[in-house]
Amino acid sequence: MEDLYKTLPQHTCTWLQGIMTLYKYQGFWNVQNFSQKTILAQSYKAQPSDILVCSCPKTGTTWLKALTFAIVTRKKFDELASPLLTTLPHDCVPFLENHLEKIQKNHSDFPIIATHLPYSSLPESVITSGCKIVYIYRNIKDVLVSYYHFVRELVNLPLEDASFEAAFDEYCQGISSSGPYWDHILEFWKASQEMPERFLFLKYEDLKKEPTSNVKRLAEFLGYPFSTEEEKAGVVENIIQLCSFGNLSTLEVNKSGKYQADEHFALEHRLFFRKAKDGDWENYFTNEMKEKIDKLIDEKLHGTGLVL
Ligand code: A3P
Repeated sequence: MEDLYKTLPQHTCTWLQGIMTLYKYQGFWNVQNFSQKTILAQSYKAQPSDILVCSCPKTGTTWLKALTFAIVTRKKFDELASPLLTTLPHDCVPFLENHLEKIQKNHSDFPIIATHLPYSSLPESVITSGCKIVYIYRNIKDVLVSYYHFVRELVNLPLEDASFEAAFDEYCQGISSSGPYWDHILEFWKASQEMPERFLFLKYEDLKKEPTSNVKRLAEFLGYPFSTEEEKAGVVENIIQLCSFGNLSTLEVNKSGKYQADEHFALEHRLFFRKAKDGDWENYFTNEMKEKIDKLIDEKLHGTGLVL
């Protein structure tokens, strides 16, 4: 199994000066050991009470993890005692593909699990268990810019050495970690059409524009609705504030320290918190790039009603 990646289609990322190679496994690109991790994750036995937080990288995973965690644990910790004040959201909610052992150990106490796995690679038990699945997606242009900076910093490549144009071209070819982004979305969207009661689709920009209604929707869907008393007491607003970019990005824990992504690899916490600005893509895209990616997304998501 360790050598599986050698048999897979591979692509060395030119925009990263060849520092990173991606491998295509079960229709999606990822780093070398991801195929192995996917196979291990597929052994996971999901329970009906599980909550799966699913996303493509850079679409708002950290935020959705924090919100889901705060909603589900609010009876245990109020906002002044929340572990989110002292712990990176990724350490509060583990990734299925990276922290299987931890998940299996704590499973009976804690139902939230996150994943970047595509729908078609999820463990069979996720499909059959009837557990709840929340999916977050975001404007592709802002995701691309976010991805560009995140990966560039991950491999310590200075800005001047990382061509945005080349990154754009590879992303539009679908070659990105967990990409093609549109196929990731489409697989979850199609499954949600077949089993609407099991899925909640959240759009990053909507969550920003209307946090109160969307956080209430999320809590209801998860089976942890806010009571009238909680609403009157401002619990919804407190959770929104606790999980806001303004708050999380300035906490000491999120400005320093390293996240152990897996047994081999650690990255700085701060990399998960950059700008969180809608429309940052306008500082990077030429008109030609905008037209190209809009056309691509129109073609790929045609008929879904999803707007990226
Ligand atoms: P930018 O790079 O555009 O700033 P992910 O969590 O899926 O890796 O996505 C990271 C993106 O979400 C980054 O976007 C990051 O700044 C933003 N982000 C992180 N925490 C957030 C929060 N609490 N609220 C809104 N956006 C957040």
